[in-house]
Amino acid sequence: MTRDIFQPSGQIQFGIFFQGVNSGTIWKAPQAGSQTDFESFRHIAQTAERGKFAAFFLGEGLRLREHLGRPHALDVVGRPDAQTMLAALAAVTKNIGLVATQNTTYNDPADLAHRLSSLDLISGGRAAWNIVTTDNAWTGANFRRGGYLDHADRYKHAEAFVETSKRLWDSWETPTGPARRVHHEGQHYTVDVTPRLLRSAQYRPVLFQAGDSPDGRDFAARQADVIFSAHPKFDDAVEFRRDIVARSIAAGRGASAVQIMPASEFILGATDQEAQEKKAWVRSLQIGPQQAIAYLEQFWGRELSSYDPDGPLPEIDPVVEETSETRGSGFHGAKARQLADQWRAEAKDKGLSIRQFVTSKTARIDSTFTGSYTAVADHLAEYARVGAVDGFNISPWLIPTGLDDIVNHLVPELQERGVYPTEYRGTTLRENLGLETPVRSGEPAHV
Ligand SMILES: Cc1cc2nc3c(=O)[nH]c(=O)nc-3n(C[C@H](O)[C@H](O)[C@H](O)COP(=O)(O)O)c2cc1C
Repeated sequence: MTRDIFQPSGQIQFGIFFQGVNSGTIWKAPQAGSQTDFESFRHIAQTAERGKFAAFFLGEGLRLREHLGRPHALDVVGRPDAQTMLAALAAVTKNIGLVATQNTTYNDPADLAHRLSSLDLISGGRAAWNIVTTDNAWTGANFRRGGYLDHADRYKHAEAFVETSKRLWDSWETPTGPARRVHHEGQHYTVDVTPRLLRSAQYRPVLFQAGDSPDGRDFAARQADVIFSAHPKFDDAVEFRRDIVARSIAAGRGASAVQIMPASEFILGATDQEAQEKKAWVRSLQIGPQQAIAYLEQFWGRELSSYDPDGPLPEIDPVVEETSETRGSGFHGAKARQLADQWRAEAKDKGLSIRQFVTSKTARIDSTFTGSYTAVADHLAEYARVGAVDGFNISPWLIPTGLDDIVNHLVPELQERGVYPTEYRGTTLRENLGLETPVRSGEPAHV
């Protein structure tokens, strides 16, 4: 069946992932903008649109990470609510998709589906939902009951959540009805409602998914339009595509049903040497002395501010059993002493100071493309040729001007190679991504 054979489109698209809080974005350079000022968001969204980017993404962090009772030095305080920000951006952009990362664990489907429909309607069919399950008890302590769902249950819950949302969006046949009433009785929520909003210009919000476990991948293969993946490097991307194609076919959706856009970072210059020099500058600002110490403190569970960031890793042992002191870091559960021993040995072996070691551990090395505009364009054209990905979701290292290099130099190189759009295909995100419009299901009113 041709539906089960993957055909590369020969094209790539770009999205921008505005992370907001993390040490990958440089906030201390004089030209850095602000993570809460609308101007920064407007500037970068309009720059992305000038570069024909398909989508503008906002991540979600529901709770600021803390360390020893203080906001974590790796984070920047404050991240405005994604849907509020995207609604404001809808008014100052025309074509770019607006993607809100929202979790299924601490929301309710009728409410979230309504808010996403609202964004979809006011943006003329440009809204998308990046579905995450959010993985830590630290976040949960500010909502329901801490880590109230384990990993497998989070995905079961997510699936029921997304299916219910789809039924809500599927509810109105025509603007005058009749609408289907949606009823669902789940373990964690109940829905009994006639949705209040009509379909948007793109039928319903586009569904992205970010989560990399086997459960997460199967969930995406069944439910998502696009995966925001963590596999940008060529061989890894090809392998990830193979895996997702197999899962999509097994889910009965065909080989090309799910698009893939990995997280990435681009450090570019007119020459390879210029790009390498810029990379050294970017890295030096991403991990300063304070961030380097704060990073280690997460694993040691104690103050390390008396250690020299340019000296060796601390000889003192961690005070925690497991590396869970800073929740939300994604490193829970490693045995702290074992990890400290291993890292000390590795740093000694490679002759690295604390700062150099932390830079090597935290830099988005696996997702960074460094080189001249032409060399990187040639490399990306190869991804398009074999269909390794459908695009890249780019985290700029500097806000709001970090996309300028890409839009001014890389995009034209890609357009010249015929692998990147020269115009938006349509007015909705679904059209611009080349996704099919969903068919209204024939399900009865009460399921
Ligand atoms: C590329 C990528 C980006 C993500 N962005 C977010 C985010 O902004 N907010 C969030 O709560 N979780 C985010 N997640 C994590 C998801 O919440 C997911 O629940 C987590 O990875 C656990 O699922 P898994 O075990 O399937 O990977 C992201 C995951 C990936 C792979």
